[in-house]
Amino acid sequence: MIAKVSSCSVTGIEGFVVEVEVDISGGLPLFNMVGLPEISVRESKDRVRTAIKNSGYAFPMDRVVVNLAPADVKKEGTGLDLPVALAILAASGTVPPDHLKSYLFSGELSLDGDIKPVKGVLPYTLTAKEKGFKGIFIPVENADEAALVDGIEVMPVRRLSQIVDYFSGFLDLKPHQRQFTSDPGIGRPDYGMDFSEVRGQLHVKRALEIAAAGFHNVLMTGPPGSGKSMLAKRLPTILPDLSFPEAIEVAKIYSVLGMMDDKVPFSLARPFRSPHHTISDAGLVGGGSKPVPGEISLAHNGVLFLDELPEFKKNVLEVLRQPLEDGKVSIARAGMKAVYPSKFMLVAAMNPCPCGYLSDPQGKCTCPQPQIQKYRSKISGPLLDRIDIRIEVPKIPYKDLGSGSRGEASAAIRKRVDRARRMQTARFSKSGIFSNSMMQGRHLKQFCRLETDCEQILEKAVDILGFSARACHSILRTARTIADLDDTVTIKRRHMAEAIQLRNYR
Ligand SMILES: Nc1ncnc2c1ncn2[C@@H]1O[C@H](COP(=O)(O)OP(=O)(O)OP(=O)(O)O)[C@@H](O)[C@H]1O
Ligand SMILES: [Mg+2]
Ligand SMILES: [Zn+2]
Repeated sequence: MIAKVSSCSVTGIEGFVVEVEVDISGGLPLFNMVGLPEISVRESKDRVRTAIKNSGYAFPMDRVVVNLAPADVKKEGTGLDLPVALAILAASGTVPPDHLKSYLFSGELSLDGDIKPVKGVLPYTLTAKEKGFKGIFIPVENADEAALVDGIEVMPVRRLSQIVDYFSGFLDLKPHQRQFTSDPGIGRPDYGMDFSEVRGQLHVKRALEIAAAGFHNVLMTGPPGSGKSMLAKRLPTILPDLSFPEAIEVAKIYSVLGMMDDKVPFSLARPFRSPHHTISDAGLVGGGSKPVPGEISLAHNGVLFLDELPEFKKNVLEVLRQPLEDGKVSIARAGMKAVYPSKFMLVAAMNPCPCGYLSDPQGKCTCPQPQIQKYRSKISGPLLDRIDIRIEVPKIPYKDLGSGSRGEASAAIRKRVDRARRMQTARFSKSGIFSNSMMQGRHLKQFCRLETDCEQILEKAVDILGFSARACHSILRTARTIADLDDTVTIKRRHMAEAIQLRNYR
């Protein structure tokens, strides 16, 4: 007898339906799986057989052939255990096969028949809804994650036998409703830090406000202890919240990696990732024989902070170029092509020279010129070109550090950032981009109206400071954001002048 049960797998972060087909026929006992199973799927054979027995059902003593379709796509993950077991139980008459048809099933089986959590439940549930399934059966631990998707029954289960009993009419199961706390559990997290703790450095804070408002990449250069890391870490506190669709996109990436937080599986806070400089290129952009997203995808819609930028391996920095341009990474492997979104804001920090004290007024720097050159050349021109804002972060005078009034609080800065963000949302509603930093030539023409003598300032900058055409575009993008923060449609002289200054360091 033949039975079919639907399940799900992912390529990249998008789910697709996997049909599990089981045929049981007479002959010598045999248990076979076809349809390009990954190693984990093959291992699942042992788990399925044992789980069925230990749940109190008979494993058929016949020829059992499992086919996973589509055959030409690699399927991964342990989530296929449960649908395979159910299809076998349906084909052997233990559970009525027709009832299973309107649901998707995903779950790993333990040897005693318990259902263990799996990765990718959010994309699975989205796929289930999109393909018109009535509901999805998933492990209890993944229930909140699945319930982010509305308009579909989320059925959490602990044991294989529960599903059999449910479809045989012996057990009543209720769809899971997400337990939202007072503020749906998706409010702003408490970062435990604030911009007001940073004394002085007003120009750096201003630059970071502009960067946050327009999603521009930033490079901060300064001596040790000047507060670069401190400032970067506080950036999330002034970033606008994610929109709901943005947050779902981020959550899908974390879901595929099994990194959804049990307590706060969903957040409107923008991701902030700060990988160590010893990271590999695969760790940073994603990859591996079984592709997984890297740090740049975990930073999607948020911030990738690379502290001590020149300490990163050169090849690692070079692989950043393409994703910085495209906002996504594609990883091709035999039998599959995974695409991971990676629209992140790059925030980098570095010292001006190996010892760090090049710009020190007391002249403490002892680095020979060639060594300084070598240190800086680790950041290639093409990478640097993609950074709209480059600023110096000098050591602050002692008097500012000790006394000095506290700076402006993050909440106040974020209000301005939020407003600039909303202007961009309206501006780019039909353009396929979402921030000023993503504007290309035609957008710049369309959206950057300049005040009359503005152009002359830019022209002068090109002549005197030697800016390239690419740098001009970069300056225009930043000027647009500065004008947005100023609530003006036309870019004025002062906006342009500030944008030039923000590009000019180094
Ligand atoms: N502007 C500031 N206001 C308040 N505290 C500061 C400021 N700058 C530095 N500090 C203090 O100095 C410490 C070191 O700063 P931070 O680690 O941010 O320096 P850095 O610029 O990243 O240095 P490095 O180049 O060595 O990484 C901070 O933890 C903070 O306590
Ligand atoms: Mg630091
Ligand atoms: Zn030095």
